[in-house]
Amino acid sequence: MEYRGYDSAGVAVLDGTIQVRKKAGKIANLDALLAQSPLPDTGTAIGHTRWATHGGPTDSNAHPHVSSDGRVALIHNGIIENFAALRAELQAQGIEFSSETDTEVAAQLLGVELAKGADLADGMRTVCRRLAGAFTLVAIDALQPGRLVAARRNSPLVVGVGDGENFVASDVAAFIEFTRSAIELGQDQLVDVTAESITVTDFFGGPAETHPFEVTWDTSAAEKGGYDWFMRKEIYEQPKAVADTLLGRYTPEGALTLDELRIPEAELRSVDKIIIVACGTAYYAGLVAKYAIEHWTRVPCEVEIASEFRYRDPIISPTTLVVTISQSGETADTLMAIRHAREQKAKVIAICNTNGATIPRESDAVIYTHAGPEIGVASTKGFLTQVAACYLLGLYLAQVRGAMFDDEIHNVMNELAATPPLIQEVLDRIGQIREVAARFVDTRSVLFLGRHVGYPVALEGALKLKELAYLHAEGFPAGELKHGPIALVEDQLPIFVVVPPQGRDQLHDKVVSNIQEVRARGALTIVLAEEGDVEVEPYADILFSLPKVSTLLQPLVATVPLQMFACELATLKGFDVDQPRNLAKSVTVE
Ligand code: AGP
Repeated sequence: MEYRGYDSAGVAVLDGTIQVRKKAGKIANLDALLAQSPLPDTGTAIGHTRWATHGGPTDSNAHPHVSSDGRVALIHNGIIENFAALRAELQAQGIEFSSETDTEVAAQLLGVELAKGADLADGMRTVCRRLAGAFTLVAIDALQPGRLVAARRNSPLVVGVGDGENFVASDVAAFIEFTRSAIELGQDQLVDVTAESITVTDFFGGPAETHPFEVTWDTSAAEKGGYDWFMRKEIYEQPKAVADTLLGRYTPEGALTLDELRIPEAELRSVDKIIIVACGTAYYAGLVAKYAIEHWTRVPCEVEIASEFRYRDPIISPTTLVVTISQSGETADTLMAIRHAREQKAKVIAICNTNGATIPRESDAVIYTHAGPEIGVASTKGFLTQVAACYLLGLYLAQVRGAMFDDEIHNVMNELAATPPLIQEVLDRIGQIREVAARFVDTRSVLFLGRHVGYPVALEGALKLKELAYLHAEGFPAGELKHGPIALVEDQLPIFVVVPPQGRDQLHDKVVSNIQEVRARGALTIVLAEEGDVEVEPYADILFSLPKVSTLLQPLVATVPLQMFACELATLKGFDVDQPRNLAKSVTVE
């Protein structure tokens, strides 16, 4: 399970009592601890590799978590949205917590149920009915050896059906070397497992439909969830990654909240300039964010390439808010920019996907994206969740500064919450993208055009193609082509054009004119436009329809076909999509 990314790991075994060994850092640290302090060899055990969401990667925050009476050990994947209220309720009962995690709340709740005499499965069902958010939970009870229960909502859980032994896991990779017979659990289901029996119910104890299947993947493919590349797996994880990033962003009173954002509201109200600093794909997410943040907050927002930022002697003051975006949280160029900004007394907010990384640690506040580990060097779900997190920041600033009414904010949040299934709709059209990629497998150059938030999408599409297919690819503002670059256009040159939704301004019509300009010079136009946009049809050699979304949110759906195109083309060319030549996942040198 190591490939899934981890910042800590742990195991618990039941041998009369529950014994736990857990350690921050690489799994080798846990191995060393187990060598030093071995666990008994026994038939009931749970183990976990953590990708931190709530609470940094420390020994105490590592899973498994144990109820305060030592009876229950529990592990968890996902985000429990209502953990704060449940934690307060348990603390009011005198329960003492030993970690900062949302997970421990579930362990303590289950401990309370069992102490009241509940059976392990009934107790877990009671707990699951109280949790909001996304979770896969697995638990053992010291008084019920040889048995474990597991439950899932919006997070994967599979059962491995062995011979005289059974397994539960978030991923078949955990047990594929022992058995290929598996059962996929459905939404809001619980499984009660012993070495001889597997019983599946819903969260009320009623019967549940199960989906047995035979795992046909080998171990390596299993790590990729059956996909050929981690990148492709991560492209398909985007609906869930965006949904998870948006989870838990409301207070019980309905206000937008960013729980890690510990900058006083008065300071945020005094901000008179925002500077976004990042590299590569993260920089393009910042370019998208600029349009949204300026539109919602009316605060000037600059976007800077991190490696350029501190050398241009930027104008920074204590009322400047610097926002850094980084998937890895370790990019040296971005880190140096933060240090420069803080020396100039600016406040720094990090948008990051890696809990406890250097960049969030050196920032004043952080908004974590919850994309889960991104293994492919080319960033995909990292980008979409960065854009979603930037929208959250813009809306939050608008709320704090009174620049938007609550209902306006809720309208945008509701539209954001509705985007994951729209992203899935785009993913379901992979067949068309495969056909387009096959048509251009020998092309030597591709251009990408866009306007407004479509321009950073064009830049990101070009970067994906450079990184993966080693092709000359370039993104332009659609209106800029006629000022020189149009000289590049020749017969059959493929040009992707991101067309904005048909709306109140001339943005759409201007882009249609730009398409005509390049077609008149022989370009082959691949047009991405919203469903029903018949105006672009006469000028599109290939038309890829996008789900309808508002202008500012279009990057969440328009970027996906470009990611898929680059992935398909590189695959057809026989290149290593996950580890392209010359690149590294995290560039920790300046
Ligand atoms: C994205 O596909 C690239 N691998 C690269 O541009 C990356 O986005 C950039 O290096 C920034 O990385 P970070 O988000 O981890 O800071």
